[in-house]
Amino acid sequence: MAHSTTRRPRTSSRAALLRGNSLGELFLLARERGAIDLAVGTPGYPEPAPEIIEAAAEAMRSGRNQYDHPSGDLPLRERIARTLATPADPATELTVTVGATEALCVALLATVDPGDEVVLLDPGYEQFTAAIALAGAVPRFVPCQPPSWRYDPADLAAAFGPRTRAVLLNSPANPTGRVLDRTELDEIAALCERWDATVICDEVYSTFVFDGRPHLSVTEVPGLAERSIVVGSLSKSHAISGWRLGFVRADADRTEVLRRVHEVTTNGAATPLQVAVGMAALSVDLDTAAREMEGRRDLAQEIFSRKGMKFAPAEGGCFLFADVANITGGRHDGRRFVLELLDEAGVLIVPGASFFADLARGEQYVRIAFNRQTDLLHEVGRRVLGG
Ligand SMILES: Cc1ncc(COP(=O)(O)O)c(C=O)c1O
Repeated sequence: MAHSTTRRPRTSSRAALLRGNSLGELFLLARERGAIDLAVGTPGYPEPAPEIIEAAAEAMRSGRNQYDHPSGDLPLRERIARTLATPADPATELTVTVGATEALCVALLATVDPGDEVVLLDPGYEQFTAAIALAGAVPRFVPCQPPSWRYDPADLAAAFGPRTRAVLLNSPANPTGRVLDRTELDEIAALCERWDATVICDEVYSTFVFDGRPHLSVTEVPGLAERSIVVGSLSKSHAISGWRLGFVRADADRTEVLRRVHEVTTNGAATPLQVAVGMAALSVDLDTAAREMEGRRDLAQEIFSRKGMKFAPAEGGCFLFADVANITGGRHDGRRFVLELLDEAGVLIVPGASFFADLARGEQYVRIAFNRQTDLLHEVGRRVLGG
């Protein structure tokens, strides 16, 4: 038995493509220093509604503690349907998942085969590249240009081809705060039609869109609607990210396939938590929540622009994506800037590199979460600006 104890386990080449979370060390440092965390998107605002917390306890006490329908509690699906931009049949077109995170994997696994290409905008949410890798597909990145983070239509067209199976969008976007407009969605629709591609759109921030602009769902755009899979979440809209409730919405034929995949990945989200959101007399007013979030965005933008950061105003979502080259004298080292801010001000933000396909392109950027209580943001202002 000449086994070497140092030999690495045999693991999949797909798993080898995953970068993992590079922020662990920063979080430890931040905790040691009692820093204010503006790094993760975990909601500090809004608060979860007391009614759903009570309803969850009640659901558990009344015995809703076992497996339920894998596609999700029907009253919850009905409630989700009422929040959508266009009608969806809760019985055949909506499936509750374990967060948008599962919904994204289900959507990709149900749509792409190994070797298929998936078009996506760069920079973007890191989980997208990871989920594409797990599905064995190949990402085709479309570079978006600062400061507005729009793509060049020629670059978009060049990313599509005979191997394209899907385009993966996110609007409002993490980390850039972009909300895709009608022109962009029409351009994407024309390419999806030409290459017969499915559009998977992560709309988890759809309730947070600012400055009076509409949130346009892909389900409202002819050419995209009929080939769409929408990924949604209650994590941010209801401030229950730890409950892990999301959903996937598609036409009935696609939904049948999505549900078969979902039965393998998790076979259903937590029953009492679904029941709770489905039955609670919720007083969440989404318009007020959007205006409140806009106020927090304004406050964060004021603080960090006075610090010297450059950014386009966030159009939606809960993040600012800022260029710090101005403050660092052109130095391209986002991680070092983040460590310096942590040292000087006791505020943790995220280096921007990991949102880019080419890490070097992102070294001068940082991401700042502003879905926090106003008092906390004022304290950030005092720490970052002094006085
Ligand atoms: C764009 C985007 N999609 C999905 C998620 C994850 O959502 P969930 O908590 O529902 O898994 C996040 C979380 O930050 C996100 O920013």
